[in-house]
Amino acid sequence: MEPQEINRLNEQFAQSDSMDVLKYFIARFGNKIALSSSLGAEDQVLTHMVWTINPQTAVFTLDTGRLFPETYELIDRTSKKYKSKIQIYFPDSAKIQNMVNEKGINLFYESVENRKMCCHLRKIEPLQRAFANLDAWICGLRSQQSVTRSNIHIVEWDSNNGLLKINPLANWTEEQVWDYIKTHKIPYNPLHDKSYPSIGCQPCTQPVQPGQDVRAGRWWWENPETKECGLHKR
Ligand code: ADX
Ligand code: SF4
Repeated sequence: MEPQEINRLNEQFAQSDSMDVLKYFIARFGNKIALSSSLGAEDQVLTHMVWTINPQTAVFTLDTGRLFPETYELIDRTSKKYKSKIQIYFPDSAKIQNMVNEKGINLFYESVENRKMCCHLRKIEPLQRAFANLDAWICGLRSQQSVTRSNIHIVEWDSNNGLLKINPLANWTEEQVWDYIKTHKIPYNPLHDKSYPSIGCQPCTQPVQPGQDVRAGRWWWENPETKECGLHKR
């Protein structure tokens, strides 16, 4: 898509309701668009929205093999509630086997390089497979989540992957997310009630202290500037 059209769409949707943004892109891309869900609070809002618009809309998750038990339980609970399936993508078992045998099962604590390797094999490579038949992906990024996300837009060209990226909640506050979840009785991860605002893999996520950034508990041993797993390189 041309940059001019992306700018035009961002202007068009600047004041729009997220449901209207999703309706537009689901109608435009049909089975060539999918929601990428980590089962986090934002993604549960989006799952509710896309399956309300059309229960056939593809929703997928990347099962890194290191998720919290609560996240696996939520995958099941969400699919049952909406009577639609979340598609699961797994990493390449041989590559994971080589990596952990060579570098250790918890290699990510040793260096940023190791951490990025683990994220690459457990998330990026499966994500690229998920993209095979897609022209657009929907994500739950919000600009207020971190320094690395402060200038995101609702519609972006994802040049790393060669497809359109839609962030319908780009301008939402955390409070809006929770109001929406409570109003619509959307299932969510019980860890959110135990000081985990942002949930990723179990060994790389810890609870945050009051007043801390929502992503402070993700890869807490690294600098804020490096704290992206590569899914959202910009
Ligand atoms: S991460 O890059 O640091 O892991 P974060 O947890 O904030 O990202 O999630 C941001 C968005 O990335 C989510 O809203 C979702 O669209 C996508 N995402 C993150 N983790 C996954 C996952 N395991 N499977 C699918 N999508 C994911
Ligand atoms: Fe590996 Fe941690 Fe990245 Fe999960 S978040 S893929 S466990 S480094």
